[in-house]
Order: sequence, then C-alpha cells, then structure tokens
Amino acid sequence: MIDSYQQHCQRRVDAALDVLMQAPRGELERLYQAMRYSVMNGGKRVRPLLAYAACQALGGAEAQADGAACAVELIHAYSLVHDDLPAMDDDDLRRGQPTTHKAFDEASAILAGDGLQSLAFEVLADPLRNPHAAEIRLAMLTALSRAAGPSGMVGGQAIDLGSVGQTLDQQALEIMHRHKTGALIEASVQLGALASGRADATSLQALHSYAQAVGLAFQVQDDILDVESDTATLGKTQGKDQANHKPTYPALLGLEAAKAYALELRDQALLALQPFDGNAEPLRELARYIVERRS
Ligand code: IPE
Ligand code: IPE
Ligand code: MG
Ligand code: MG
Ligand code: MG
Repeated sequence: MIDSYQQHCQRRVDAALDVLMQAPRGELERLYQAMRYSVMNGGKRVRPLLAYAACQALGGAEAQADGAACAVELIHAYSLVHDDLPAMDDDDLRRGQPTTHKAFDEASAILAGDGLQSLAFEVLADPLRNPHAAEIRLAMLTALSRAAGPSGMVGGQAIDLGSVGQTLDQQALEIMHRHKTGALIEASVQLGALASGRADATSLQALHSYAQAVGLAFQVQDDILDVESDTATLGKTQGKDQANHKPTYPALLGLEAAKAYALELRDQALLALQPFDGNAEPLRELARYIVERRS
C-alpha cells in the first residue's frame, strides 16, 4: 500500500514542484538550474507524503495540501543543500548524485538553498498556489517558519555542528534530533492538517503527538542507516557520521538498542492515531515505513 501511495504523492508533488522550478522568462538560468538540480532529483518526499496523509486523515482532499506539500519539501531540499556544504557535513553525494556545491559551486549552492527557502514561504502565502483563507495561510506560515528557523531545524543544525566530537547524553541527543529533523516533520503534519480546513484543537493535538514520535524516529533511523546501509542504496556516503565524529543514537546506545528505540517510537505514533478512522491509514503506514525503510 505504501508503495503505491508514495508513488502517487511523489508524482503529485513533483509536478507542482516542477512548475515552481521554471526560470521566469529564461532569466537567472544558473540559479534556477541549481535550485532545480537540488529539488527534482528523486528524494523520497516523506514530508510531502506526511502533509497529504494528515490532510486525508481529517477528511480533506489531496489538492488542498499541494501548497503545504511543496513548501515542506522546498525547506527540506534547502536544508540538505546547506547540510552538505564543506563548512557543514562536507558531503559529495546526495540522492545518488554529486551534491549541489559539487555539481555547481559553493556560492551557487548557498544561493540555491536561500532561494528554495524563500520560495517555500512565497508558496504558502500565495492564495493561488495555496488556496485557503488568510487565517489558515497565516497559521501555516507561522508553523513552517518556526519549524525551519532557530527554534527548529536551523537551531538543531547549530547544535549538531556544536556537538561534533562530543558525547551527548540521551536527553541532549534527543533535543538535537527533535530540532534538526523532528521540527520539520511535525510542521509537515500540521500543515497538512491545516490544509484540510477541518483541524480542531483535539485532532491537532493527537496529530502533534504522532508527528513528534515519527519525527524523532525518522532521525534515529537515519542514524541507523548511516551505520548499516551502503552508499549505493542510501544515495549518500555511508559511514559519514562516524567519519565526522557526530553524536548519533547507534553511537550512544549501540545499534540494537537504537533499533528497539525506533520501533518504540513507531508504536507511540500508532497509539496517538487510535482516535482516527480508516482515513488515517496512510499516516499509520508512514509510521511503519519510516522505521523500516532501507534508504
Ligand atoms: C535526510 O532526509 C536528512 C534528514 C533530515 C535525516 P531524507 O531521508 O528524507 O532525504 P531525501 O529527501 O529522501 O533525500
Ligand atoms: C540532516 O541530518 C538534518 C538536516 C536538517 C538536513 P544529517 O546530516 O544526518 O542528514 P544526512 O544524513 O546528511 O542526510
Ligand atoms: Mg548534518
Ligand atoms: Mg548530513
Ligand atoms: Mg544522517
């Protein structure tokens, strides 16, 4: 089920992203090439999937979540381009291709990331691309800007870079992961829920609990895959965390305990969805997929 759902949502968000990656009247060719290269390259699109699935869980139609789906993937793609820069993780391979700064140059990669980030907010604010009432668009903008910024992903990346070579305790590691990866995943679910136009406080709270568990599980599994997968499957260099002396769950707990923790988080996520009906099945499948995925 997850395969066909994933494919369907991937196609849908890819088509919408493709439109956003057209250079206006052929201007700014290199900037748009670098942005396109960073986005239209076979990412798993987990965050858009979560947005579509959260919208569906509340009975919304998928077209309502297109703006949310594009916006969260644009922020994610930007975060990867900057994460790979020599000053950060210094990675050469991403999604099976040379990283943006390798395929272009560092300045182009920095600007492509900056451009993708701004475009995410432009999409959410635009009533044509994100056709919702102004209050809903404002709530989406608030959620995404918090999740992307210093109190979310950027804050987490700063903690990550500041923690190189250190041994964090489990609480500190969890805080880092919840910021650098969890926050955007939480926002993906929240934006999808808002896009349904049917989000009330109770359902938002339940979806928040789901997203917190799934967001942390996602980075725990990312850490696990860095240890036990291979470069060809991952599309990024295996073993980079250890080479860069990053604190990770497998490094702290050992591989088996890290895997057990990921499964525990999956179960927490599923528990949070208990009040929901069959419309939440894609969200349930995604929780399972996130800890079972091999790339
Ligand atoms: C990798 O994210 C970076 C993290 C936040 C852990 P994904 O595993 O979602 O990467 P893509 O988008 O599929 O390439
Ligand atoms: C990524 O964490 C978090 C981001 C905000 C991009 P990682 O540095 O572990 O991601 P990968 O393993 O390079 O994809
Ligand atoms: Mg990193
Ligand atoms: Mg990295
Ligand atoms: Mg990683």
